Amino acid sequence: MRNVRERLFRPSDLAQITGVEQNVYGSGAYSKYFFRQLHDLFPTLIWVAEDDGKLVGHVCAAVAQDGTGWILNTAVLPHYRRQGIGERLMINSIDALLRAGVRHFKVTSESENFPAIRLYEKLGFHTVGIEEDYYGDGVDRVIMERHEKEQA
Ligand SMILES: CC(C)(COP(=O)(O)OP(=O)(O)OC[C@H]1O[C@@H](n2cnc3c(N)ncnc32)[C@H](O)[C@@H]1OP(=O)(O)O)[C@@H](O)C(=O)NCCC(=O)NCCS
Repeated sequence: MRNVRERLFRPSDLAQITGVEQNVYGSGAYSKYFFRQLHDLFPTLIWVAEDDGKLVGHVCAAVAQDGTGWILNTAVLPHYRRQGIGERLMINSIDALLRAGVRHFKVTSESENFPAIRLYEKLGFHTVGIEEDYYGDGVDRVIMERHEKEQA
């Protein structure tokens, strides 16, 4: 029985998170320097999923100058998918952004990436635009947003 839990990224995770990133995104993976610098800027916005000491997924976010919280990527190792890990990582990320005062969220995905789009829709994101050929010829990007309701 797997015992996966989510927690904040630590600098000692750098090699493992880069390995998961390369496994999931191949030549499109973020480098270890990206994770190191993102951690310098937003130490509460990188979450990892851990199975008995082994990293199996992560989510990264950042806050733009206009206050928008951007979910930059979500990754779960193939053998760990469809177990709720991606969703729990996303919820941790959104909660951390809410604690940072973010009320407007954005996420993007390849337009054919239905697992990711379904995941984001499940969490209240809706499509607001498409950028044609963003990832190369014929590979479009979907832009999705979520707005937090104002407290009464
Ligand atoms: C997208 C990704 C992170 C989802 O991770 P996951 O741990 O498998 O997702 P979960 O098990 O938490 O699924 C949560 C919801 O997402 C949706 N979903 C996830 N995978 C799906 C699939 N293959 N088909 C349809 N819906 C899917 C469903 O709505 C699901 O809810 P449900 O179980 O109640 O149906 C994972 O597939 C992945 O790493 N893909 C490659 C990297 C990527 O494309 N990242 C996103 C772009 S930045």
